[in-house]
Amino acid sequence: MSEKVCFAKCSCFISERRVCAMIVIYVLLALAALAIAAFAVKMARSILARRYYEKQGVSFVTTYPFIGSEVDVTDLIGRNKTRDYLYTEEKKSDFVGSIRGFDIQLYAINKETTEKLINPSNFGVTIDRDTPALYSFGQLSPAALTFTPIQTKFFHERKANILKGFDIERMDRVSRRLAEEYCDRISGDANLDMKQVVADWTREVMGEFVWGRAAMDAVVPYKDEAGREFRVPFMRALNETFTRLRFYSNRFWNRVYFPIATWPVTREARYLQFNIKALQDHLAVSLTEEPARDSVSWDVMKGNEELGIPMHVTRDDLLTVSIAGLDTVQSMTLATLWYLLLPENSGWKQEIRTGAGEDREEVVEACINEAIRIDPPGSVINNKVIKDFDLQGPGGTYHLRKGTRIMPNIHALHAVYGAEYRPERFLETRSKKDLYVMPFGKGKRSCPGRTIGMLMAKNLVGEFIARNPDTVILNIEDEHIRFNNLSRSKLMLDLSHSEEKVHEVA
Ligand code: HEM
Repeated sequence: MSEKVCFAKCSCFISERRVCAMIVIYVLLALAALAIAAFAVKMARSILARRYYEKQGVSFVTTYPFIGSEVDVTDLIGRNKTRDYLYTEEKKSDFVGSIRGFDIQLYAINKETTEKLINPSNFGVTIDRDTPALYSFGQLSPAALTFTPIQTKFFHERKANILKGFDIERMDRVSRRLAEEYCDRISGDANLDMKQVVADWTREVMGEFVWGRAAMDAVVPYKDEAGREFRVPFMRALNETFTRLRFYSNRFWNRVYFPIATWPVTREARYLQFNIKALQDHLAVSLTEEPARDSVSWDVMKGNEELGIPMHVTRDDLLTVSIAGLDTVQSMTLATLWYLLLPENSGWKQEIRTGAGEDREEVVEACINEAIRIDPPGSVINNKVIKDFDLQGPGGTYHLRKGTRIMPNIHALHAVYGAEYRPERFLETRSKKDLYVMPFGKGKRSCPGRTIGMLMAKNLVGEFIARNPDTVILNIEDEHIRFNNLSRSKLMLDLSHSEEKVHEVA
């Protein structure tokens, strides 16, 4: 009798477990079915949205639902170009479109439509900031100005506080002193990796400028790509983490669906999150101390404090100014040196060497401007239509719908003038006026670091060319050399002949 009871209880127990397992399976299947249905609806919507814009005359590059044009972008990245180059060929319409995840992305490719996008009556009213960069280097400083819509309280005051901290004379002193020191150090090197030199130099200049000299000694924990943990200087950890975040978010699936870059599903994502936390923890302590008086951090901290801006916002604004001028200034300096050191451009090198005073400054600046016209370090930051509106372009009226990603394409605007390196475009007053270029963006969201970034590059390029006139590019035969924020190109130099010549001249 007792055995029977026991048997009955067991079978009942087993069937209960089965029922539970079946319920779990059904729930999972239902969830999967819902997810697939939601995915299908979103895909259908993006296909319809594409049709909607195509009917209005927008031409699209090759795009597949969800995957967008990422296959072609991968091909570009392999050649050290960025996605922006995908849109340089198309000239027929005012906008070129693409699909990014579930969104439609429109790029303005001519002056007229670009001017409409940056116009104050549209910017912050019908268009505002919304950028995938938030899932990339934005993980370091999500509350920073770069990712903040213009309508946000204190946006303009925060930008003004940053600009107040940008003391031009101090930047001139710091970048000149360090340019001289670095040029001393590399003198006569027969096999120099100039990319590494410029990376170290930009980091040191920006670190001292933003935080003051003493802060450069602070060290933080840092995990490299192999997962090894070290204690490294704060600016080094920040620079490496920033660059790695950008490269990581540029992997195929992270480009297709941006939030994947933040999921801790790969080792690299977990190491990067470790580094982000270490940097933020470090700042949580150091921002409670009095900032160095002669630094950007002084003006930003004091200015933001007066307005009652929360500390994490100030932290993120300071993080953003510490990193925004690293890879950008590095790319712009390397691109300029590359063009100046090519044998066919020796005339410009000579002008820099022999010139003096303001004329020389102007020539260096023109050489830099022309380098970043051909190879802009980055692009403008993405925005979204926040309210339906009609935009009148030369090709007709476009009915832009809320949720559409939209931005000017710097590369398409610059490519109109061809790929030939001709710095004179930026010297002659008339041609300067005719040029419509925007390597630093334009309008309310343009780059606040333009003047100091240009000054940095001018000081290093000027010093380097003066000291190393006969430098030889060692990797001139390398394929696809380009310098921008996502390029892996190197600049290998032989400086061993230059010093002899300098002494001969002397
Ligand atoms: C010198 C090379 C540089 C280039 C080519 C460059 C380029 C750009 C571009 C294209 C934008 C986006 C503009 C837009 O969306 O319309 C931008 C924004 C920004 N840049 Fe730069 N930049 C450079 C250096 C710097 C430096 C040195 C700093 C600061 C130390 C800086 C700080 C910023 C900030 C904070 C923003 C965001 C502005 C906003 O969202 O309103 N940049 N930069």
